[in-house]
Amino acid sequence: MTSENPDLSQEQQPSASDHYNAMSTEYAGYIEADPIRNQLHYPHVLRSLGDVKGKSILDVGCGNGRLDEILAARDARVIAYDKAPNLIQIARRQAEQSGSDIRYLVADPTNIELPEQFDAAVSVMVLPYAPDPHYLGTFFESTNRALKKDGSFISVVLNPNFTAFDQLIANRVFKRWGGNQVEVQFLSPKDGAMMMNATLGQFNQEEYEAAATRAGFSRIEWQLLMPIGETEENAGFWKACKELQPYSSLIVSR
Ligand SMILES: C[S@@+](CC[C@H](N)C(=O)[O-])C[C@H]1O[C@@H](n2cnc3c(N)ncnc32)[C@H](O)[C@@H]1O
Repeated sequence: MTSENPDLSQEQQPSASDHYNAMSTEYAGYIEADPIRNQLHYPHVLRSLGDVKGKSILDVGCGNGRLDEILAARDARVIAYDKAPNLIQIARRQAEQSGSDIRYLVADPTNIELPEQFDAAVSVMVLPYAPDPHYLGTFFESTNRALKKDGSFISVVLNPNFTAFDQLIANRVFKRWGGNQVEVQFLSPKDGAMMMNATLGQFNQEEYEAAATRAGFSRIEWQLLMPIGETEENAGFWKACKELQPYSSLIVSR
């Protein structure tokens, strides 16, 4: 189990990407079979993108590249970056195995250098790891620069209006600490014990919208997320997630 002490000040805490870097193997294994990513987040992103065949897509904070493999299998041209080198290593290894032509870069929004402009950009649960609203702005600014005219940026974030802390939601528990800090606990599918955790920020709607507007995005839309593949058997698993909506999607366009 990896743990992080939410009482530590920001200076003492490792950065979010250091934290993900340290638990890269555990995290990648979890995400491969994670219903939240595979039945909720990624289907939403794919639906929002529409037909990606031949389109160029940038993935901001790609982790172990699970979404990028899905995009590449749909014939998108994908470049993806993450600050955690161990996760990029896992993603590159996976692309070698699958034969996917995905370009992975170790970078963050303050130093990313991209060879082209993209039709669209995506980001799944990365913006909430910005340490403050100013840094949040750097994600939007660098992504805006990376997009073609009319390009859109689809980002799954912690829902700014979510309040159902300390209760089981699908396979996660969210705990509210001081300020805007929220700990997300990833629970084991076997016994429900906490396998990993991470601390992120619950930015409010105004902070996201101000950061996006300052960066030059004009159209801003929020959406809630509904899972795919719901059956009578798994309806109980999804019930709290559908009712309490821990995640939302922010779609902004140039
Ligand atoms: C919850 S994981 C999501 C990963 C991936 N998008 C997915 O769908 O599983 C958050 C990711 O954001 C990355 N990250 C956090 N801060 C970052 C930053 N400033 N620049 C680039 N990546 C960052 C972490 O290294 C981690 O891989």
